[in-house]
Amino acid sequence: MNVKDLLSLKGKVILVTGGSGNYGRCIVEGLAEADATVITTSRSLARAEATAAQYSQRGLDVHAMAVDQDDYQSMLQLRENVSSTFGRLDGFVNNAVARPVKGYRAPIEQFAESMQSNATGMFFLLRELTDLIIESGGGSVVNIASMMGMKGPDLSNYEGTVGMGDLPADYFFHNGGLINLTRYMTKMHAGRNIRFNCISPGGLFNNQPEAFVKNYCKKVPLGRMANSDDIKGLVVLLMSQAGEYINGENILLDGGLNA
Ligand SMILES: NC(=O)c1ccc[n+]([C@@H]2O[C@H](COP(=O)([O-])OP(=O)(O)OC[C@H]3O[C@@H](n4cnc5c(N)ncnc54)[C@H](O)[C@@H]3O)[C@@H](O)[C@H]2O)c1
Repeated sequence: MNVKDLLSLKGKVILVTGGSGNYGRCIVEGLAEADATVITTSRSLARAEATAAQYSQRGLDVHAMAVDQDDYQSMLQLRENVSSTFGRLDGFVNNAVARPVKGYRAPIEQFAESMQSNATGMFFLLRELTDLIIESGGGSVVNIASMMGMKGPDLSNYEGTVGMGDLPADYFFHNGGLINLTRYMTKMHAGRNIRFNCISPGGLFNNQPEAFVKNYCKKVPLGRMANSDDIKGLVVLLMSQAGEYINGENILLDGGLNA
């Protein structure tokens, strides 16, 4: 088969959580540019609709739905809405992240809040949408973790910055967990024509303070932070037929920082 056809996502329905966030917008755009029908979700339907409208104006097939990973009913409703609107689901990019913890000594309730969204709620939604993909005949799940789920913090990146560097523990904990959850799901669903992979990105440039960007970039062999195009090709590959033999993998996307 021609490699362009292998990479095409035409005819596939793919849902992205946190589609209005920083990496989420890049992922929604990349999947839609590869001709997928994309469902972008946010807690607020209005925000998801605003994101979808931005891409629909360019002729891309992007739809909006709401979901809150703190609310089981809303996650069940999302599954129902996807089923009744599209009749199937071929792919899920598990990308949303809640960031309630404000540092190492933050009130422990903030850590519990993070676990509710980023661990318990995230798994509930992953399990529901996995079932829907299997019912649809199979497909692909891409979990978005972080290089921070693979290593401890590099505090020297924050030298010379103000108010940065008190890194929250939950982020390192749940991203590390998501990487291994990917392997667990891969083995648990063997033989069901569904693949699970994980992308662990490095920092996306988002106008961070100059001192941080300078400290960070001098350690990256490519000399820069990730830009808004960098994640697109990898997500498309993992969702496509071209990626059909990649399963249970965690792929660092960090410009060589952790080489
Ligand atoms: N931005 C980076 O530099 C970076 C680096 C490495 C990894 N990542 C990973 O990329 C993914 C996206 O991160 P981002 O930086 O784009 O995040 P972001 O904060 O820009 O967006 C996260 C999205 O998740 C949504 N969300 C938060 N709580 C939710 C809940 N309870 N229910 C449903 N949605 C909820 C938010 O509304 C938001 O749209 C995360 O998995 C993160 O770990 C990001």
